[in-house]
Amino acid sequence: MNSIFSDRITDVPKSFIREILKIAVDPSVISFAGGLPNRELFPVEEIKQAAIRVLEEYGREALQYSKTEGHQELREYLSQRYKDKHRLDLGVENILITNGSQQGLDLVGKILLNRTDDVVIEEPGYLGAIQAFSVYRATFNPVPVSEEGMDIGRLQTIMSAKSPKLIYAVPNFQNPSGISYSEANRQAVAELVRDSNTLLIEDDPYGDLRFEGVEKTSFKKLIPDNTVLLGSFSKTIVPSFRLGWIAAPDRIMEKLIIAKQAADLHTNNFAQCVIHRYITDNDFDRHISKIISVYGSQRNAMIESIRQYFPPGIGHTSPEGGMFLWVTLPEHVSSMKLFEKAIIDKVAFVPGHPFYIDRREVNTLRLNYSCVDEETINIGINRLGQAIREQLAE
Ligand SMILES: Cc1ncc(COP(=O)(O)O)c(C=O)c1O
Repeated sequence: MNSIFSDRITDVPKSFIREILKIAVDPSVISFAGGLPNRELFPVEEIKQAAIRVLEEYGREALQYSKTEGHQELREYLSQRYKDKHRLDLGVENILITNGSQQGLDLVGKILLNRTDDVVIEEPGYLGAIQAFSVYRATFNPVPVSEEGMDIGRLQTIMSAKSPKLIYAVPNFQNPSGISYSEANRQAVAELVRDSNTLLIEDDPYGDLRFEGVEKTSFKKLIPDNTVLLGSFSKTIVPSFRLGWIAAPDRIMEKLIIAKQAADLHTNNFAQCVIHRYITDNDFDRHISKIISVYGSQRNAMIESIRQYFPPGIGHTSPEGGMFLWVTLPEHVSSMKLFEKAIIDKVAFVPGHPFYIDRREVNTLRLNYSCVDEETINIGINRLGQAIREQLAE
């Protein structure tokens, strides 16, 4: 019988992480599997005050339909913030407010990708991007990433053989690995993309959460005409508002606005007004510093515990920011098998394979440190170290 479903949705992978999170809800399990910001840091009282002010001062306007491009003052704020904090010149007219950066990925896919178009994706890469571009039936070309950034040789080969439509990159504190692209790597990637027809999506939801090192040059600065920059308030304020943005060159913006209009007319106007009120009435950077301080300490606790409890020969990244680190087991060790053992020992993580295109057995895994306090990190990594030792002994 013919399927009632579109070809478009049939091949899209289900989120493996959601399945894992179902297992990890048992309160006796210490979970490093999630990808959530730490709820203890949500500015609940400040958001309440902002919501009250919005309703009292311009309630009817905030509750009305609004512009597709987004709340004007919020776009102006973002444009000014990029200038002040990142020395990036982004016109207000080049910023579109979206339902999180996840919608940014969907809209970019929608306006650019025809079936089988080539897309470069980081390996390991962000699952949500793999899922978003799968809907448009893209052909994925994985490029390995390391502590330096993208494998330039591999990227060069794909660029000359296929002229991909898109390159998807998370250059700051990547999800899932926590790595950041070095300055030299960014220059080399930019060199390959400059003067080509390829667009680079610079997905940057974690860039503000730096606890170490210095900020690197944005692709938006290096190759502005070829870069679509995605941003989000999910990791710096709250994810539930679903507020993010796309900064894109004029020619791309025009099509994005049409796609956004067709998708949902505009992003929730009330949420945009509340966030704008929140960031103008409060010291946003102080709030971000608080997040950085907590996540930085939790990252340190995780790395110290790894050094203390993991057997020798296990690699790990040392992220300079963000929420995740990446562990590499000895070559023959399956992280999925380790997961099955670890869950019995009451500790969870995400095995690496869903972050690759078409791989079943890998020796890598993702650990999240944003949601677990330092003491619990110590206990959980001890349990995981024990599970690794048991697996190595088999
Ligand atoms: C790399 C990356 N991009 C995009 C997103 C989606 O974020 P948002 O809540 O802004 O849609 C996430 C969320 O975890 C992410 O890790």
